[in-house]
Amino acid sequence: MCLCTLIFPDLALGKNAKEIRSGEIWPDNQGVHVNAHGGGVLYHKGTYYWYGENKSDTTSSAMVGIMCYSSRNLYDWKKEGVALPVVLDDEFSDITKGCIMERPKVIYNKKTKKFVMWFHLELKGKGYAAARSAVAVSDTPQGPFKYIRSERINPGKLPFDMTETQRAMLDTLDADKYKQWWTPVWYEAINKGLFVKRDLQGGQMARDMQLFVDDDGKAYHIYSSEDNLTLQIAELSDDYLSHTGKYIRIAPAGHNEAPAIFKRNGEYWMITSGCTGWAPNEARMFSAPSIWGPWKKHPNPCRGPKSEITFGGQSTYVLPVAGKKDAFIFMADIWRPKHPSDARYIWLPIQFENGVPYVEWMDSWSLDFFDKNNLNINAHQKMLAIVMKAMASIF
Ligand code: DGJ
Repeated sequence: MCLCTLIFPDLALGKNAKEIRSGEIWPDNQGVHVNAHGGGVLYHKGTYYWYGENKSDTTSSAMVGIMCYSSRNLYDWKKEGVALPVVLDDEFSDITKGCIMERPKVIYNKKTKKFVMWFHLELKGKGYAAARSAVAVSDTPQGPFKYIRSERINPGKLPFDMTETQRAMLDTLDADKYKQWWTPVWYEAINKGLFVKRDLQGGQMARDMQLFVDDDGKAYHIYSSEDNLTLQIAELSDDYLSHTGKYIRIAPAGHNEAPAIFKRNGEYWMITSGCTGWAPNEARMFSAPSIWGPWKKHPNPCRGPKSEITFGGQSTYVLPVAGKKDAFIFMADIWRPKHPSDARYIWLPIQFENGVPYVEWMDSWSLDFFDKNNLNINAHQKMLAIVMKAMASIF
């Protein structure tokens, strides 16, 4: 055995059997592929909780509900069970079996000590027309969560950053004049708020979604609105259970889905996808100095083979690794619409070049990837070099 292996056992090749292999089957503690799609992860008191859509073998509709898995190391996942079940005995319930429950996210409210879940809800048998957000709450991370309600967002409210002139201009927007999509005049009308106005009374549409808790404890809901044409960011109330009425629009008519957001060195970064159903497409990226913008578009953050289709996946979350500086995991789903429960996961480290995030495919990696520039490893390597040098002078 190599002497350095004896001195530094954690550097031994092959010792670290823990690895993340995107696109493969990820067995839970019962040996079954994790069933938590379109998900997100909450870190709470030393444990990561992964929430996601339970998918069945033949349909993407919700037959079971929202799942929860837990892990202390991000490699070994214990099935906690169904955090929010569908309702089996009331066909009029919003979340009756057969509805659509997508992209659940859970955040912890330090003031109320409650775990708050929001997800995208579509009513059973209505396709994707409802475009509602639903909220549920629990005293424990595993649940069971108590369903509260579903709704469109901020009825009667216009984006807070819309100027008086822009508001006045809304009166001149006549929906009948813009029936044909994707024409220059239609783009201009969408930009000015044609669909915001259309949905003003009933509330803004919300499909693919994300939650983000900022350093000051304020939480935000980010969602594809206006028929998936425009992203909106809306502030949540102090208890995280409702919206305050304050929101902005991002990239009108940009057709962004699957928003995944993180913050680094005071800068907000958001990775999104285009809008092509279950088929993968090229990721997009935005950044802003404040959650309220201005949001600037960047090129596709993915690099290498299949980067033009996000390695076959679609973003769902960016997971900050606890206790490691600048360690963020890009999480995405490889959908399998013909066999939904067989959908796979992509987890890749986010890297930075001149402060700008990028994501590169790796067949396999482990969390110590993040330590490569970290002082400990440098110290380790320096020590190793000293020992090797000393040994070379002895022998
Ligand atoms: C893409 C979305 O990102 C998914 O969450 C899901 O709604 C599919 N579209 C449905 O086609």
